[in-house]
Amino acid sequence: MTINFDEIIERRGTDSIKWSQFDPDIIPMWVADMDFRSPEPVIRALHERIEHGVFGYGDVGKELKNAISERLLNRYNWKVEPEEIVFLPNLVNGLFIAGKGIGEPTDRILVQTPVYGPFLMSADQAKRPMDVAELTKVVDGRKIRYEIDFDAFEAAITPETSLFLLCSPHNPVGRVWERWELEKMAEICLRHNVTICSDEIHSDLVYSGYQHIPTATLSTEVADNTITLLAASKTFNLPGLSLGFAIVKNPELRKKVTDIFGGMGVHISSLGFTATLAAYREGQPWLDELLKYLQGNRDYLENYVAENFPRILTTHQEGTYLGWLDCCDAGLPGLPHEFFTQEARVAVTGGWFGQGCQGFVRMNYGCPRSVLVEALDRMHEAISRIG
Ligand SMILES: Cc1ncc(COP(=O)(O)O)c(C=O)c1O
Repeated sequence: MTINFDEIIERRGTDSIKWSQFDPDIIPMWVADMDFRSPEPVIRALHERIEHGVFGYGDVGKELKNAISERLLNRYNWKVEPEEIVFLPNLVNGLFIAGKGIGEPTDRILVQTPVYGPFLMSADQAKRPMDVAELTKVVDGRKIRYEIDFDAFEAAITPETSLFLLCSPHNPVGRVWERWELEKMAEICLRHNVTICSDEIHSDLVYSGYQHIPTATLSTEVADNTITLLAASKTFNLPGLSLGFAIVKNPELRKKVTDIFGGMGVHISSLGFTATLAAYREGQPWLDELLKYLQGNRDYLENYVAENFPRILTTHQEGTYLGWLDCCDAGLPGLPHEFFTQEARVAVTGGWFGQGCQGFVRMNYGCPRSVLVEALDRMHEAISRIG
């Protein structure tokens, strides 16, 4: 199968937040959605569903739950019963539900920074204090890599900490956590009675040489202590169709999730079900091709930065389609994300990954290669202009 990921699809003037937030001459490389069409079987299934023309309240959950169980068993040998799956409109919603629902209202929430902004917002939403365990940035030549300081991780936990929001694989630092790292974090959480909410939305977007391990597969004890958040939305570019899900093995924890969710009066999109089912059943050949293409983009980005931006460092992304650029010593005027947006006309994300991350930008390379090339050339030119 050959899919043309090089095709430029005009998204301006559609309902795309990515393409409408900034002036039309700006290349948007900020929010994490891709500029690719979803797999053909997904588009076909949606057409068929639309043709039916009746869009009453949906009840297709059973079929999708079976497809999810089957997929998780095949990919990870992870046995998930259909009743352990709770559908959600999206995963930030899942993070907020966990923030509100786990522990007592005055309990604390643990996060690791840098991290995807809504992890930090989850504590605000729940009006709870937050504990922060910073990841350790290790510099190796022109590359940076993030590791977990387990002493700092454990020290950040207080007697009131009842929830740890884990990002696995990690947005933005691109780590696909290894088994021993997950085991160590999970063991510390068990010892301190801290429930883990493991956001695994990027779990399908892992490059060759790395393997995602669902936190809940580490042991029965860890499974009982974990809420896993998953979706097909990042993988198959479906976030506008609003469907994610939580996997909660522990019935008590599951009740907490469903109680809060039920109390919000939210229901789920039928088109999200249709698309997710088709993606999981028939989307794998597309995903295989996508990963090869994204890996090419990742390599292009890393090499370009190494060759052309002598004062900027990058990670070697093990997963996700998000580059992470360390501009702390780049000598750019003002905040790097504002500099690139205004001077290079390339919108990258900055300023919301936690304290101490103001010097970094995240750059979404889920786009045709030519767009990435143009964006990097513009950034290069803007840097050259300031000397
Ligand atoms: C780690 C992580 N969780 C959640 C989300 C957002 O998910 P949703 O659109 O389902 O709320 C993202 C989007 O980039 C993400 O990177």
